[in-house]
This record gives sequence, C-alpha cells and structure tokens, in this order.
Amino acid sequence: MKQLKAIYPGSFDPMTNGHLDLIERGSKIFGELVVAILRNAEKDPLFSLDERMAMLKATTTRFPNVQVSSFEGLLVDYVAKQGAQVVLRGIRAISDYEYELQMALMNRKLDPKIETVFMMPADTYSYLSSRLVKEVFNLGGSVRGLVPELVEEKLRQKAGGSVGDKTRFVAK
Ligand code: PNS
Repeated sequence: MKQLKAIYPGSFDPMTNGHLDLIERGSKIFGELVVAILRNAEKDPLFSLDERMAMLKATTTRFPNVQVSSFEGLLVDYVAKQGAQVVLRGIRAISDYEYELQMALMNRKLDPKIETVFMMPADTYSYLSSRLVKEVFNLGGSVRGLVPELVEEKLRQKAGGSVGDKTRFVAK
C-alpha cells in the first residue's frame, strides 16, 4: 500500500496517545499520511485549530511521510482535493463500529473511489478518547501516559495549574 495516500481525519481536541499510535501504524503502511483536523468540529473546542495543529505537528515530526493539515466541508471532497485514495480511521472497540460504519458507507455513497481503512490502536489505548481525557483532567485526575507530554503541558497551561493536583478548569 506504499503507493497510496491516506487521510486520517478527526477533531483531535486534544490528540491522545491513541491517535499517535494510529498515526505511527498508518505511516508504516501508507506512502503518505495526512492528519486532517476538522475545522469547526465543535462550536467551542477546548483547543483552537492552531493549537491542535501545533501539537500534532510537534509530535509527528519523526514520521517523514506524515503531514498535518485541516479541512472543512465534506471529507470526501478534501480527500479528492488531496489526491488521496484512502480514509484512515481507528476502531477501538465494537461500540465504535456502528458510527464508523455509517460514516464509511456514507463516504462511499458520496465517492465510491475512496476506501475507508480501519486500524486498531494498541490495546493499551482501547479505552482512550479525547472526551475522557478532558473529563479526567477537568476533575483533577492524571492523564500521564494517555497523551503526549506536550499535550499534558498544554492542558496544564489551560488550567493554570498542574495535572492531577486537583486543579479544576472547565474543559468543554
Ligand atoms: O474525531 P471525530 O470527531 O470522530 O471525527 C469525525 C470526522 C471529522 C471524521 C467527521 O465528522 C467528518 O468527516 N466530518 C466532515 C463532514 C463530512 O464529510 N460528513 C459526512 C461524512 S459521514
């Protein structure tokens, strides 16, 4: 599959070690991998688009065939514009499957040339999500090992305190 270009879309608010694990796996099997952040995914994300881009860029520099970008509108249009053939998505547990299947089939209906490829992150990250990271951090729990150190630092900066020291902030 080395000749294929894949797009790995998502909100990445914030990126987790599960995302990073998938990026590493994707970079090994695709010739090019573009991590594409959806603009306006949420009305009020915790991290701005620029912050999310910066974190993803900083943590993926060791993968020479990985780029970080953003998109708005239909994913299939962005995939076509990029000259890519594949959408890469992670599936952690069976609970992800229904939503992912709907999206993959809708994208296929919109553009039958594009294939969705699902990969599983390492089982250590199978319970991990951006939403839970924000919730745990928000409630004063430690997110060490769940997100890259840089992301942990940025969360701490948002909170104006330290991870796991019961500092509260409101992560939306
Ligand atoms: O990280 P997420 O929130 O699970 O990512 C969802 C994402 C960005 C992949 C999805 O919302 C998306 O592709 N949005 C773009 C709009 C679109 O193309 N919708 C129709 C496809 S179902």
